Parts: sequence; structure tokens; C-alpha cells
Amino acid sequence: MPFDFNKKLDRINNHSMKYNVFSKELLPMWVADMDFESPDCVKQALIQRLQQGDLGYTKAWPELNESIVSWCKARYDWEIQAHWIAWLPGIVSGFNMACSGFNKGKVVVQTPNYPPMLQAPKLSGQVSSELFVTFNANTQRWMFDFNQLETFLSDETCGLFLLCNPMNPHGTMLSENEIKKIIQLCKQYNVQLCSDEIHCDLAFEKQHIPAGKFDPTAITLMAASKTFNIAGLGCSFAIIQDTKIRKIFTNQMKGLVSWPSSLGLEATFSAFQDGEPWRIALIKQLKVNRDLLVNSLNKMTINNKVIFKTHLNDASFLCWIDCNHLESLTKQTAIEWFKTAGIMPSNGVDFGAQSFVRINYGCPEFTILNAIDKIKIHLLKFN
Ligand SMILES: Cc1ncc(COP(=O)(O)O)c(C=O)c1O
Repeated sequence: MPFDFNKKLDRINNHSMKYNVFSKELLPMWVADMDFESPDCVKQALIQRLQQGDLGYTKAWPELNESIVSWCKARYDWEIQAHWIAWLPGIVSGFNMACSGFNKGKVVVQTPNYPPMLQAPKLSGQVSSELFVTFNANTQRWMFDFNQLETFLSDETCGLFLLCNPMNPHGTMLSENEIKKIIQLCKQYNVQLCSDEIHCDLAFEKQHIPAGKFDPTAITLMAASKTFNIAGLGCSFAIIQDTKIRKIFTNQMKGLVSWPSSLGLEATFSAFQDGEPWRIALIKQLKVNRDLLVNSLNKMTINNKVIFKTHLNDASFLCWIDCNHLESLTKQTAIEWFKTAGIMPSNGVDFGAQSFVRINYGCPEFTILNAIDKIKIHLLKFN
């Protein structure tokens, strides 16, 4: 086997956030990084840079930018130019920059959502227009309502739609028609579109459509960080075709947002240059994990009553679990129930949803099996 996704990575003694914030007794399945080693190509590039010994400020170099141009063409059939790329130390900085650069008072954000995205409008003194994302049992898909979106965008004090696609926490990916409809509505009501696409290279069955492919004025935020497990290196980028919009966006960096790290740039380059075979193998493993976890959870019962509702997400390594039945049967909050089972998921409340948890399945299959065992053993006390 060329890539090993079943190796145990020591993340306790290296001060990883995931393993060192909550009690060591709990199996950590919360923060969104993976328990897999980064690909060899990335490790080798970093070793080379460290051996060379220069860790000073680093300017993005032409071959690095070209690796993104080629990646966008190969993966998304999106023809971009190198000078459209604005380098950033993180996507969170990027969407907060969009909030301050296009501030008219209100920002549309999906909810439930990645917590820093929910918080972003307030940080620039704005009000959030919460675009509700709900589960449709017929389509088995979490989605928002375009009528509600249009109502929000048509408000003259709305300056920005902060889109998350693929969505976090539900993993929904938008279709080409949906993206085009969003672009058309943003144009119609003169609202800036900023699309956080950090999870886009982790798509399973569907094809991801970058917002910038059909909208020259869109701010498209991307990174190699989630896909190649290099989030700790602080490196991402925005792709913005329109010169004026790009200038407004990059102006927001002044005095607040630093350059990406030299190691982050090196890692990103090697990932986009040589990481594709590893990414393909990773997707295969994540799909096995997703199917195993979702199918097991959906079968679990208390007194013959189903306790979890979850679904096969389109992208990434996050499983969003409806625990309403569990809570009413056990009279415990979902997060407390999982903790007493010995597992630390992310708390849905932080994403704007009561009675939900999010489990990160970016880990070896044996960890998923371990989690399923813990849940089953805990369930014995209720059956
Ligand atoms: C949707 C989304 N955006 C941004 C981030 C974090 O990006 P960064 O670490 O580059 O700031 C995450 C991390 O989980 C995320 O899920």
C-alpha cells in the first residue's frame, strides 16, 4: 500500500490542539484537522527548507503561484491568472477582511456554520442576516432557501454574502446552477460575494464549483491546509479576478494581517505540485470512514427508537449528527452524553444548533471503530 492511513500518529506529545485541550480520557473528535501524517512530498519539502536553514520572510514565487493556476485548471477547469492570487495567513483572516472591506451594515451568513464565520460580521460592527440551512428528508440534503437569501440581499444595508461552500458543518456542496443563482442575486442587489471554499478539495462524489469561476468580482478563499493536513502552518489564499475588488480586499490587511509563513508556502507548493495521488487515496479512506460512521450511527437505538439522524456528506471529514431523539430519551444534552461515552465531539451549540454534535472522522479507521464501540457500550446502560 503506497499511502498508510492506518498509522497511529502521536499527537499528544507534540502539543496538538485536538489532543491537549480537553481531558486525555476523551477520544478527541472535534477540531477540524486530521490524525493522518501529511504526505511525504510535503514532509520532504519542509525538511529541505529546514536543512537550508532560512526561515525569514518569504515572498510567494512564480512557480508557487503557477502551481495554483495549474491546480485550479486541473481540478475545476477554472482558468485563473497568477496575479489574481492574494496570499493570506488564514482563511479566517480572509473572510474577516471581506467583512471590513465591504461593510454596509449587514452580512448574510449561513447558519448553522463554522463558529468564526458566525462571529465575523459582529467583529466589524455589523449585523448578521442568518440564512437558515435545514435538512430536507426527501433530498437528504442540508440546504438554504433562495427566497430567504433574496430577501436578505435586497436589503440596501447588506454589503456582503459570506458563503461557505462546501458547507461546514453539514458538508453540502452547491451545484453549478445554485452558484450561478447566488451570483445573479448578488449582482442584482449589488452585494459582494466572498466564498470560503477551504474544504473544496475534499469532495467525494460531486464536482466542486468555485464561485470565482463564474463571477470575476467574487472573492474565492482556498487553501491546501485541510486537504493536506497542514493547517498549523498558517497559509491560504484568495483568488480575485477584479483588480478593484482585489485592491479593496488586500487593503484590509494593513497593520492587522501578516504574511503567510515560509513553511506554509513551501508546504502548499509541494502539496499542489506533487500531492494529488495522496489526495485521491485520502478521499478513498475518508469515504470508508464516512460510510462506516454514518451507517453505524443511523442504526443505533434506545428501546428500539432511533437516536441519531445523520447523512452522507458531500465533502470533508465532518459528520453532523442530529441528537434530538437522544436528548429526549436520555434527558442529557448531546455533548454531555458523548462525553460520558468517552468521546469529545464538537458541540453543535457553537455552530448555532442545539442538540447536535459534529464528529471529525479524519482519522484511521481503527479510531472510528473505537468510537463506535464506546458509543455502543455506553448505550447498553440505556437499553
Ligand atoms: C469553513 C472553514 N473556514 C475556515 C477555517 C479555518 O481556516 P484558517 O485556519 O485558514 O483560518 C475552517 C477550519 O475548520 C473552516 O472549517
